[in-house]
Amino acid sequence: MDVLLNAANAALLLAHDIRRDAEIALLLLGPPDPPRLVRIRGDRVRAYQPDIRSNAALVRRALERGSRIEREVSPGVTSSKSSLDETLDRLGPPFVYLKEGGPDARETGLPDAATFVLSDNMDLTAEEERTVLARGASTIGLGPMSLHTEHAIAILHNELDRRRR
Ligand SMILES: C[S@@+](CC[C@H](N)C(=O)[O-])C[C@H]1O[C@@H](n2cnc3c(N)ncnc32)[C@H](O)[C@@H]1O
Repeated sequence: MDVLLNAANAALLLAHDIRRDAEIALLLLGPPDPPRLVRIRGDRVRAYQPDIRSNAALVRRALERGSRIEREVSPGVTSSKSSLDETLDRLGPPFVYLKEGGPDARETGLPDAATFVLSDNMDLTAEEERTVLARGASTIGLGPMSLHTEHAIAILHNELDRRRR
């Protein structure tokens, strides 16, 4: 959960604001009741703080709902039981898969708006990777070091921010 909450903070927070054009989709595929998808939209979420304990409560409340139908459980926070395939359907293309050792994003370029797929502290399984690539995802790398997910997101945001200025 720490990995997910830190990733959510990196995706959504600026020093004194929230990234209203960003959304984080947290897909939980482990026990006790997989698959579970919690999405947090920067343009709708209220009272989102850097404090990961409050955010843990927000996500925990979202996880109390175990329906396949996606519902907004609090402003900007939606919950559903969604597989990886269903999650990619909900988020939509273009997909960009961030993979250590992938072609350098500074050389390949980056789409301005995309669904960026990262794993947590373990790599995607071969089957998960096939699922993502079958959607026509491009694969990119962020340099030679293996990074924590939240740091990879921060660097990705920075690359996108620089391109937008
Ligand atoms: C901690 S890493 C995955 C586990 C890591 N392979 C290990 O052996 O512990 C978390 C995720 O961040 C992204 N990531 C980390 N470093 C990256 C890099 N240099 N380029 C692109 N993505 C990276 C990838 O999506 C990666 O799966």
